[in-house]
Amino acid sequence: MKRLSILGSTGSIGQSTLSIVEQFPDRYSVAALAAGRNLEQAYAQAVRWRPQILSMATEELAEDLALRLRQAGVHDIETVYGTQGTVACATLPDADFVVSAIVGVAGLEATHAAILAGKPIGLANKECMVAAGEILIRAARQRNVPILPIDSEHNAVHQCLRVGTHNEVKAIWLTASGGPFRKLPLDQFAAITPEQALKHPTWVMGRRITIDSATMLNKGLEIIEACRLFDVPPAQVRVTVHPQSTVHSLVEYVDGSILAQISVTDMRLPILYALAFPERPASTLTFDLAALSHLDFEQPDFERFPCLRLAYEAAEKGGAHCIALNAADEVAVEAFLDRRIPFTGIPRTIEEVLAATPEAHPDTIAEVLATDREARQTARALLA
Ligand SMILES: NC(=O)c1ccc[n+]([C@@H]2O[C@H](COP(=O)([O-])OP(=O)(O)OC[C@H]3O[C@@H](n4cnc5c(N)ncnc54)[C@H](OP(=O)(O)O)[C@@H]3O)[C@@H](O)[C@H]2O)c1
Repeated sequence: MKRLSILGSTGSIGQSTLSIVEQFPDRYSVAALAAGRNLEQAYAQAVRWRPQILSMATEELAEDLALRLRQAGVHDIETVYGTQGTVACATLPDADFVVSAIVGVAGLEATHAAILAGKPIGLANKECMVAAGEILIRAARQRNVPILPIDSEHNAVHQCLRVGTHNEVKAIWLTASGGPFRKLPLDQFAAITPEQALKHPTWVMGRRITIDSATMLNKGLEIIEACRLFDVPPAQVRVTVHPQSTVHSLVEYVDGSILAQISVTDMRLPILYALAFPERPASTLTFDLAALSHLDFEQPDFERFPCLRLAYEAAEKGGAHCIALNAADEVAVEAFLDRRIPFTGIPRTIEEVLAATPEAHPDTIAEVLATDREARQTARALLA
Protein backbone atom coordinates (compact mmCIF):
# COMPACT_ATOMS: atom_id res chain seq x y z
CA MET A 1 0.00 0.00 0.00
CA LYS A 2 1.42 3.38 -1.04
CA ARG A 3 0.29 6.27 1.15
CA LEU A 4 0.04 9.47 -0.88
CA SER A 5 0.50 13.12 -0.07
CA ILE A 6 -1.35 15.04 -2.79
CA LEU A 7 -0.32 18.67 -3.15
CA GLY A 8 -3.00 20.51 -5.15
CA SER A 9 -5.68 17.94 -4.33
CA THR A 10 -8.56 20.23 -5.34
CA GLY A 11 -7.16 20.88 -8.84
CA SER A 12 -7.59 18.98 -12.05
CA ILE A 13 -4.55 16.72 -11.49
CA GLY A 14 -5.31 16.36 -7.79
CA GLN A 15 -8.84 15.16 -8.51
CA SER A 16 -7.63 12.75 -11.19
CA THR A 17 -5.13 11.36 -8.67
CA LEU A 18 -7.93 10.80 -6.16
CA SER A 19 -9.95 9.00 -8.80
CA ILE A 20 -6.99 6.62 -9.23
CA VAL A 21 -6.96 6.04 -5.47
CA GLU A 22 -10.67 5.31 -5.72
CA GLN A 23 -10.05 2.74 -8.47
CA PHE A 24 -7.08 1.06 -6.74
CA PRO A 25 -7.96 0.95 -3.03
CA ASP A 26 -5.63 -1.99 -2.46
CA ARG A 27 -2.66 -0.10 -3.85
CA TYR A 28 -3.09 3.51 -2.72
CA SER A 29 -4.40 5.47 0.24
CA VAL A 30 -4.38 9.15 1.21
CA ALA A 31 -2.06 10.38 3.95
CA ALA A 32 -2.10 14.13 3.32
CA LEU A 33 -3.93 16.65 1.15
CA ALA A 34 -2.92 20.22 0.32
CA ALA A 35 -5.54 22.49 -1.20
CA GLY A 36 -5.52 26.22 -1.94
CA ARG A 37 -8.73 28.21 -1.54
CA ASN A 38 -11.46 25.79 -2.51
CA LEU A 39 -12.94 25.20 0.94
CA GLU A 40 -16.01 23.29 -0.25
CA GLN A 41 -13.98 20.74 -2.12
CA ALA A 42 -11.28 20.48 0.55
CA TYR A 43 -14.02 19.73 3.11
CA ALA A 44 -15.59 17.08 0.87
CA GLN A 45 -12.18 15.49 0.29
CA ALA A 46 -11.37 15.57 4.01
CA VAL A 47 -14.61 13.76 4.87
CA ARG A 48 -14.19 11.24 2.06
CA TRP A 49 -10.46 10.48 2.41
CA ARG A 50 -9.73 11.20 6.07
CA PRO A 51 -6.11 12.35 5.58
CA GLN A 52 -3.94 12.73 8.69
CA ILE A 53 -3.29 16.33 7.73
CA LEU A 54 -4.89 18.84 5.35
CA SER A 55 -3.42 22.18 4.34
CA MET A 56 -5.26 25.26 3.06
CA ALA A 57 -3.69 28.37 1.50
CA THR A 58 -4.48 30.67 4.46
CA GLU A 59 -4.94 30.50 8.24
CA GLU A 60 -8.52 31.73 7.94
CA LEU A 61 -9.45 28.98 5.49
CA ALA A 62 -7.75 26.35 7.65
CA GLU A 63 -9.74 27.57 10.70
CA ASP A 64 -13.00 27.50 8.73
CA LEU A 65 -12.23 23.98 7.60
CA ALA A 66 -11.32 22.84 11.13
CA LEU A 67 -14.61 24.26 12.46
CA ARG A 68 -16.68 22.53 9.78
CA LEU A 69 -14.92 19.24 10.45
CA ARG A 70 -15.53 19.51 14.21
CA GLN A 71 -19.19 20.28 13.59
CA ALA A 72 -19.37 17.15 11.42
CA GLY A 73 -17.85 15.06 14.24
CA VAL A 74 -14.48 14.65 12.48
CA HIS A 75 -11.70 15.17 15.03
CA ASP A 76 -8.75 13.23 13.64
CA ILE A 77 -7.56 15.55 10.84
CA GLU A 78 -4.90 18.15 11.57
CA THR A 79 -5.52 21.37 9.60
CA VAL A 80 -2.52 23.49 8.65
CA TYR A 81 -1.97 26.36 6.21
CA GLY A 82 0.34 28.29 3.92
CA THR A 83 3.80 27.23 2.82
CA GLN A 84 4.48 25.62 6.20
CA GLY A 85 1.30 23.63 5.73
CA THR A 86 2.19 22.35 2.25
CA VAL A 87 5.70 21.51 3.49
CA ALA A 88 4.19 19.58 6.44
CA CYS A 89 2.04 17.59 3.98
CA ALA A 90 5.03 16.95 1.70
CA THR A 91 7.25 15.70 4.51
CA LEU A 92 4.69 13.77 6.57
CA PRO A 93 6.59 10.71 7.88
CA ASP A 94 3.68 8.41 6.96
CA ALA A 95 3.59 9.53 3.30
CA ASP A 96 5.44 7.22 0.90
CA PHE A 97 4.91 9.24 -2.30
CA VAL A 98 4.22 12.91 -3.02
CA VAL A 99 2.12 14.09 -5.97
CA SER A 100 3.27 17.63 -6.73
CA ALA A 101 0.28 19.24 -8.46
CA ILE A 102 -0.01 22.76 -7.06
CA VAL A 103 -0.01 25.27 -9.90
CA GLY A 104 2.89 27.75 -10.13
CA VAL A 105 5.85 28.40 -7.83
CA ALA A 106 3.47 28.13 -4.84
CA GLY A 107 4.35 24.42 -4.96
CA LEU A 108 8.11 24.87 -5.04
CA GLU A 109 9.08 24.82 -1.38
CA ALA A 110 6.93 21.76 -0.64
CA THR A 111 8.32 19.87 -3.64
CA HIS A 112 11.87 20.71 -2.56
CA ALA A 113 11.13 19.70 1.03
CA ALA A 114 9.67 16.38 -0.16
CA ILE A 115 12.86 15.63 -2.10
CA LEU A 116 15.03 16.55 0.91
CA ALA A 117 12.88 14.17 2.98
CA GLY A 118 13.59 11.41 0.45
CA LYS A 119 10.02 11.06 -0.83
CA PRO A 120 9.55 9.86 -4.41
CA ILE A 121 7.78 12.55 -6.43
CA GLY A 122 5.08 12.37 -9.09
CA LEU A 123 5.68 15.72 -10.75
CA ALA A 124 2.86 17.64 -12.45
CA ASN A 125 3.96 21.09 -11.23
CA LYS A 126 6.18 21.96 -14.22
CA GLU A 127 6.62 25.57 -13.08
CA CYS A 128 8.73 24.49 -10.10
CA MET A 129 10.98 22.45 -12.43
CA VAL A 130 11.31 25.47 -14.73
CA ALA A 131 12.09 27.89 -11.89
CA ALA A 132 14.35 25.66 -9.80
CA GLY A 133 15.01 22.52 -11.81
CA GLU A 134 18.77 22.74 -11.40
CA ILE A 135 18.40 22.75 -7.59
CA LEU A 136 15.64 20.12 -7.47
CA ILE A 137 17.43 17.67 -9.78
CA ARG A 138 20.72 18.06 -7.89
CA ALA A 139 18.96 17.37 -4.57
CA ALA A 140 17.11 14.38 -6.02
CA ARG A 141 20.30 12.86 -7.47
CA GLN A 142 22.19 13.31 -4.19
CA ARG A 143 19.44 11.46 -2.32
CA ASN A 144 18.56 9.00 -5.06
CA VAL A 145 14.98 10.28 -5.06
CA PRO A 146 12.98 9.39 -8.20
CA ILE A 147 11.08 12.21 -9.91
CA LEU A 148 8.43 10.63 -12.11
CA PRO A 149 6.85 13.00 -14.62
CA ILE A 150 3.06 13.28 -14.70
CA ASP A 151 3.00 15.88 -17.48
CA SER A 152 1.77 13.65 -20.31
CA GLU A 153 4.59 14.58 -22.71
CA HIS A 154 7.38 13.93 -20.20
CA ASN A 155 5.62 10.84 -19.02
CA ALA A 156 5.61 9.60 -22.63
CA VAL A 157 9.32 10.43 -22.98
CA HIS A 158 10.04 8.63 -19.70
CA GLN A 159 8.34 5.55 -21.12
CA CYS A 160 10.16 5.77 -24.47
CA LEU A 161 13.53 6.22 -22.73
CA ARG A 162 13.20 2.91 -20.93
CA VAL A 163 14.42 1.07 -24.04
CA GLY A 164 17.64 3.01 -24.74
CA THR A 165 20.61 4.68 -23.06
CA HIS A 166 21.24 8.40 -22.68
CA ASN A 167 24.02 8.34 -25.30
CA GLU A 168 21.72 6.71 -27.83
CA VAL A 169 19.19 9.57 -27.75
CA LYS A 170 19.34 11.90 -30.73
CA ALA A 171 16.31 14.06 -29.92
CA ILE A 172 13.31 14.28 -27.65
CA TRP A 173 10.17 15.28 -29.57
CA LEU A 174 7.46 16.94 -27.52
CA THR A 175 4.08 16.93 -29.19
CA ALA A 176 1.83 19.98 -28.94
CA SER A 177 -1.84 20.13 -29.84
CA GLY A 178 -1.27 23.65 -31.19
CA GLY A 179 -4.13 24.90 -29.02
CA PRO A 180 -7.32 26.56 -30.26
CA PHE A 181 -5.55 29.18 -32.45
CA ARG A 182 -3.36 26.97 -34.62
CA LYS A 183 -5.16 28.09 -37.76
CA LEU A 184 -6.36 31.56 -36.71
CA PRO A 185 -5.01 34.35 -38.96
CA LEU A 186 -2.26 36.23 -37.17
CA ASP A 187 -4.03 39.60 -37.54
CA GLN A 188 -6.90 38.28 -35.37
CA PHE A 189 -4.71 37.32 -32.39
CA ALA A 190 -5.06 40.69 -30.65
CA ALA A 191 -8.85 40.24 -30.48
CA ILE A 192 -8.79 36.77 -28.82
CA THR A 193 -10.98 36.74 -25.69
CA PRO A 194 -10.37 34.79 -22.45
CA GLU A 195 -13.45 32.66 -23.24
CA GLN A 196 -11.98 31.62 -26.60
CA ALA A 197 -8.56 30.94 -25.10
CA LEU A 198 -10.04 28.85 -22.27
CA LYS A 199 -11.51 26.35 -24.76
CA HIS A 200 -8.76 23.79 -25.29
CA PRO A 201 -9.44 21.45 -28.22
CA THR A 202 -8.25 18.19 -26.60
CA TRP A 203 -7.60 18.54 -22.83
CA VAL A 204 -9.61 19.77 -19.83
CA MET A 205 -7.16 21.46 -17.45
CA GLY A 206 -6.72 24.33 -14.98
CA ARG A 207 -7.04 27.94 -16.24
CA ARG A 208 -3.38 28.92 -16.33
CA ILE A 209 -2.19 25.84 -18.23
CA THR A 210 -5.10 26.22 -20.66
CA ILE A 211 -4.09 29.80 -21.53
CA ASP A 212 -0.44 28.67 -21.66
CA SER A 213 -1.47 26.03 -24.19
CA ALA A 214 -3.17 28.68 -26.32
CA THR A 215 0.02 30.83 -26.38
CA MET A 216 2.19 27.68 -26.55
CA LEU A 217 4.16 28.99 -23.56
CA ASN A 218 3.13 25.70 -21.97
CA LYS A 219 5.23 23.88 -24.57
CA GLY A 220 8.04 26.30 -23.83
CA LEU A 221 7.89 25.43 -20.12
CA GLU A 222 7.88 21.77 -21.12
CA ILE A 223 11.05 22.23 -23.21
CA ILE A 224 12.83 23.51 -20.09
CA GLU A 225 11.25 20.78 -17.95
CA ALA A 226 12.50 18.14 -20.42
CA CYS A 227 16.05 19.55 -20.39
CA ARG A 228 16.11 19.25 -16.62
CA LEU A 229 14.35 15.92 -16.19
CA PHE A 230 16.24 14.12 -18.97
CA ASP A 231 19.57 15.97 -18.79
CA VAL A 232 19.67 17.17 -22.41
CA PRO A 233 20.46 20.60 -23.92
CA PRO A 234 17.60 22.70 -25.41
CA ALA A 235 18.74 21.97 -28.98
CA GLN A 236 18.03 18.29 -28.36
CA VAL A 237 14.40 18.98 -27.41
CA ARG A 238 12.17 19.55 -30.44
CA VAL A 239 8.49 20.43 -30.73
CA THR A 240 6.07 19.00 -33.27
CA VAL A 241 2.46 20.12 -33.58
CA HIS A 242 0.19 17.10 -33.45
CA PRO A 243 -3.44 18.27 -33.29
CA GLN A 244 -4.91 14.85 -32.42
CA SER A 245 -2.92 14.69 -29.10
CA THR A 246 -2.78 10.93 -29.49
CA VAL A 247 0.99 10.56 -29.65
CA HIS A 248 2.00 12.05 -26.33
CA SER A 249 5.68 12.45 -27.26
CA LEU A 250 8.51 10.64 -29.00
CA VAL A 251 12.18 9.80 -28.61
CA GLU A 252 14.41 9.66 -31.67
CA TYR A 253 17.42 7.38 -31.32
CA VAL A 254 20.77 7.74 -33.11
CA ASP A 255 20.12 4.68 -35.30
CA GLY A 256 17.08 6.42 -36.84
CA SER A 257 14.40 4.65 -34.77
CA ILE A 258 11.66 6.84 -33.33
CA LEU A 259 9.66 5.52 -30.38
CA ALA A 260 6.29 7.05 -29.58
CA GLN A 261 3.85 6.62 -26.71
CA ILE A 262 0.18 6.49 -27.73
CA SER A 263 -2.82 6.42 -25.41
CA VAL A 264 -6.11 8.12 -24.58
CA THR A 265 -6.00 11.83 -23.72
CA ASP A 266 -6.70 11.15 -20.06
CA MET A 267 -4.33 12.34 -17.33
CA ARG A 268 -5.20 9.35 -15.16
CA LEU A 269 -2.91 7.26 -17.35
CA PRO A 270 0.34 9.20 -16.72
CA ILE A 271 -0.65 9.64 -13.06
CA LEU A 272 -1.09 5.88 -12.64
CA TYR A 273 2.21 5.27 -14.44
CA ALA A 274 4.03 7.63 -12.05
CA LEU A 275 2.36 6.17 -8.96
CA ALA A 276 3.02 2.56 -9.93
CA PHE A 277 6.45 2.83 -11.59
CA PRO A 278 8.19 0.50 -12.37
CA GLU A 279 5.03 -1.66 -12.41
CA ARG A 280 2.21 -1.33 -14.95
CA PRO A 281 -1.10 -2.14 -13.29
CA ALA A 282 -3.98 -3.16 -15.55
CA SER A 283 -6.38 -0.26 -16.09
CA THR A 284 -9.58 0.49 -17.96
CA LEU A 285 -7.90 3.28 -19.97
CA THR A 286 -7.89 1.49 -23.29
CA PHE A 287 -7.31 3.07 -26.67
CA ASP A 288 -8.90 1.87 -29.89
CA LEU A 289 -6.19 1.90 -32.58
CA ALA A 290 -8.85 1.27 -35.21
CA ALA A 291 -10.36 4.66 -34.36
CA LEU A 292 -7.17 6.35 -35.57
CA SER A 293 -7.87 7.66 -39.03
CA HIS A 294 -4.71 9.70 -39.38
CA LEU A 295 -1.93 11.39 -37.41
CA ASP A 296 -0.70 14.85 -38.39
CA PHE A 297 2.67 16.31 -37.43
CA GLU A 298 3.55 19.90 -38.34
CA GLN A 299 6.36 22.34 -37.70
CA PRO A 300 5.41 24.86 -34.99
CA ASP A 301 4.89 28.42 -36.21
CA PHE A 302 7.30 30.62 -34.24
CA GLU A 303 5.79 33.82 -35.63
CA ARG A 304 2.30 32.93 -34.47
CA PHE A 305 3.60 31.62 -31.15
CA PRO A 306 6.55 33.84 -30.05
CA CYS A 307 6.39 32.26 -26.57
CA LEU A 308 8.12 29.20 -28.01
CA ARG A 309 11.08 31.26 -29.20
CA LEU A 310 11.23 33.08 -25.84
CA ALA A 311 11.28 29.75 -24.02
CA TYR A 312 14.13 28.38 -26.13
CA GLU A 313 16.10 31.58 -25.43
CA ALA A 314 15.44 31.29 -21.70
CA ALA A 315 16.32 27.58 -21.76
CA GLU A 316 19.71 28.42 -23.32
CA LYS A 317 20.46 31.00 -20.62
CA GLY A 318 18.97 28.95 -17.75
CA GLY A 319 18.79 30.25 -14.14
CA ALA A 320 17.14 33.66 -13.72
CA HIS A 321 15.79 33.71 -17.28
CA CYS A 322 13.78 30.54 -16.77
CA ILE A 323 12.44 31.90 -13.47
CA ALA A 324 11.51 35.19 -15.15
CA LEU A 325 9.85 33.42 -18.09
CA ASN A 326 7.51 31.58 -15.75
CA ALA A 327 6.87 34.52 -13.39
CA ALA A 328 6.19 37.02 -16.18
CA ASP A 329 3.83 34.58 -17.85
CA GLU A 330 1.86 34.00 -14.64
CA VAL A 331 1.38 37.75 -14.16
CA ALA A 332 0.54 38.30 -17.84
CA VAL A 333 -1.97 35.42 -17.96
CA GLU A 334 -3.75 36.87 -14.90
CA ALA A 335 -3.89 40.27 -16.61
CA PHE A 336 -5.25 38.70 -19.80
CA LEU A 337 -7.93 36.78 -17.88
CA ASP A 338 -8.89 40.06 -16.14
CA ARG A 339 -9.12 41.69 -19.61
CA ARG A 340 -6.39 44.18 -18.73
CA ILE A 341 -4.18 43.18 -21.68
CA PRO A 342 -4.85 41.54 -25.05
CA PHE A 343 -3.77 38.00 -25.85
CA THR A 344 -0.75 39.38 -27.73
CA GLY A 345 0.23 41.26 -24.57
CA ILE A 346 1.25 37.96 -22.95
CA PRO A 347 4.35 37.30 -25.13
CA ARG A 348 5.10 41.04 -25.21
CA THR A 349 5.20 41.22 -21.40
CA ILE A 350 7.37 38.10 -21.15
CA GLU A 351 9.81 39.43 -23.75
CA GLU A 352 10.18 42.76 -21.93
CA VAL A 353 10.66 41.09 -18.53
CA LEU A 354 13.29 38.74 -19.99
CA ALA A 355 15.11 41.71 -21.55
CA ALA A 356 15.20 43.38 -18.12
CA THR A 357 16.48 40.24 -16.34
CA PRO A 358 20.24 40.04 -15.70
CA GLU A 359 21.89 36.66 -16.18
CA ALA A 360 22.20 34.84 -12.85
CA HIS A 361 22.07 31.31 -11.50
CA PRO A 362 20.35 31.24 -8.11
CA ASP A 363 21.73 28.49 -5.95
CA THR A 364 19.07 28.19 -3.27
CA ILE A 365 15.28 28.06 -3.21
CA ALA A 366 15.24 31.39 -1.33
CA GLU A 367 17.24 33.00 -4.16
CA VAL A 368 14.91 31.47 -6.75
CA LEU A 369 11.89 32.91 -4.95
CA ALA A 370 13.56 36.33 -4.67
CA THR A 371 14.28 36.32 -8.42
CA ASP A 372 10.69 35.21 -9.05
CA ARG A 373 9.37 38.14 -6.96
CA GLU A 374 11.58 40.62 -8.83
CA ALA A 375 10.39 39.35 -12.20
CA ARG A 376 6.77 39.63 -11.07
CA GLN A 377 7.36 43.21 -9.92
CA THR A 378 8.92 44.07 -13.27
CA ALA A 379 5.97 42.49 -15.09
CA ARG A 380 3.43 44.33 -12.92
CA ALA A 381 5.24 47.64 -13.40
CA LEU A 382 5.23 47.12 -17.17
CA LEU A 383 1.53 46.30 -17.16
CA ALA A 384 0.70 49.30 -14.98
N1 LIG B 1 -4.39 19.56 -15.77
C1 LIG B 1 -3.58 18.90 -16.56
O1 LIG B 1 -4.03 18.13 -17.42
C2 LIG B 1 -2.10 19.07 -16.43
C3 LIG B 1 -1.27 18.37 -17.31
C4 LIG B 1 0.11 18.47 -17.17
C5 LIG B 1 0.65 19.26 -16.17
N2 LIG B 1 -0.17 19.95 -15.34
C6 LIG B 1 0.44 20.80 -14.31
O2 LIG B 1 -0.07 20.39 -13.05
C7 LIG B 1 -0.17 21.53 -12.17
C8 LIG B 1 -1.61 21.61 -11.71
O3 LIG B 1 -2.43 21.84 -12.84
P1 LIG B 1 -4.01 21.74 -12.77
O4 LIG B 1 -4.49 21.76 -14.17
O5 LIG B 1 -4.40 20.62 -11.85
O6 LIG B 1 -4.33 23.15 -12.08
P2 LIG B 1 -5.63 23.58 -11.29
O7 LIG B 1 -6.81 22.76 -11.68
O8 LIG B 1 -5.72 25.06 -11.42
O9 LIG B 1 -5.27 23.21 -9.76
C9 LIG B 1 -4.26 23.86 -9.08
C10 LIG B 1 -4.16 23.34 -7.67
O10 LIG B 1 -3.19 24.12 -6.96
C11 LIG B 1 -3.81 24.59 -5.74
N3 LIG B 1 -3.18 25.85 -5.34
C12 LIG B 1 -3.10 26.99 -6.05
N4 LIG B 1 -2.44 27.93 -5.33
C13 LIG B 1 -2.10 27.34 -4.17
C14 LIG B 1 -1.41 27.78 -3.01
N5 LIG B 1 -0.95 29.05 -2.88
N6 LIG B 1 -1.24 26.92 -1.98
C15 LIG B 1 -1.71 25.66 -2.07
N7 LIG B 1 -2.37 25.18 -3.14
C16 LIG B 1 -2.56 26.02 -4.17
C17 LIG B 1 -5.26 24.76 -6.11
O11 LIG B 1 -6.05 24.84 -4.95
P3 LIG B 1 -7.57 25.48 -4.95
O12 LIG B 1 -8.23 25.02 -6.19
O13 LIG B 1 -8.13 24.86 -3.69
O14 LIG B 1 -7.41 26.96 -4.85
C18 LIG B 1 -5.47 23.46 -6.88
O15 LIG B 1 -5.58 22.38 -6.00
C19 LIG B 1 0.29 22.73 -12.99
O16 LIG B 1 1.63 22.97 -12.72
C20 LIG B 1 0.12 22.27 -14.43
O17 LIG B 1 1.01 22.92 -15.32
C21 LIG B 1 -1.53 19.86 -15.45
